[in-house]
Amino acid sequence: MDVELLRQLGERLLALQSSQCYFGFEGRAVVSAGSLAHHVSWTAAILATFRPTIHLTRCADFPSHLSWSADLILNHIELNALKVDWIIDTHPHADHFSAARDLNSCLNVPTATGAEVVRIQELWKSFYHLGDEFLTDGTQWDHLFVEGEQFKVGGMTAEVMFSPGHTMASISIRIGDAVFIHDTLFMPDSGTARADFPGGDAQQLWRSISRILDFPDSTRLFTGHDYQPGGREPLWESTVAEQKASNPHVRGQDETSFVRMRNSRDRRLPMPKLILQSLQVNIAGGRLPEPEANGQRYLKIPLNLFDRPAWS
Ligand SMILES: [Fe+2]
Repeated sequence: MDVELLRQLGERLLALQSSQCYFGFEGRAVVSAGSLAHHVSWTAAILATFRPTIHLTRCADFPSHLSWSADLILNHIELNALKVDWIIDTHPHADHFSAARDLNSCLNVPTATGAEVVRIQELWKSFYHLGDEFLTDGTQWDHLFVEGEQFKVGGMTAEVMFSPGHTMASISIRIGDAVFIHDTLFMPDSGTARADFPGGDAQQLWRSISRILDFPDSTRLFTGHDYQPGGREPLWESTVAEQKASNPHVRGQDETSFVRMRNSRDRRLPMPKLILQSLQVNIAGGRLPEPEANGQRYLKIPLNLFDRPAWS
């Protein structure tokens, strides 16, 4: 691929997903690709180290108009000559497709998520009324992390920390003084993640957040989404001290007040527009449903599953 084109693609990637990417960590690269678009988009976390330049080709099932943000990730990996070690879903996302499977088909490195994902699979299997062919044992990923498990990213040691609440299966990842906290705390001016999806629990979320805030004040926290309040530039990194000092969902709160606030706030939120489309793909590790006899793939949409509009 043309070098100048690659450079432009890389700049576009950085511009588009700057709220979702984490670079330059101890001479390595840690990339987290989250919601890159407000419509159909992709997500996966990639833990990567540098390697000689390679050439990646797409080879997955997703049509190109649905995979453009995954393409940006692949282009960034290629442009920066990164070696990807893991593709990690921090949890099954409710508003965009996971790119884990798609990226895996190109990068051929292990996919992983938290071991509790099997509970989410069971829950949503019943909602979608899926048949026996849908397994709820987590084998859609190459590896299921357990609490406290350690793994390597190049020469660095990463440690898994269960942090449920937003979902039953959410995991955070600590590497040195950095913790990748996905949808728990957002930036200090943006509060916390909602806890009202099926299986979500505000009390659990508070306890997960409390564990994160037990790290030293200087610990760097990399959050999963940024909603840019007031139209400010995207941000993705804070510290424990900053969260304690200025996040209104944390400062001056205790478990009781947080749970009351979180539940009250969540009752007023509509369900994400794409929750029913994305969950049935994401509980399968990012796999689309198999084509039917006519070669067409179909998503199931359960009607009246929620007691409020699934629109946002
Ligand atoms: Fe989420």
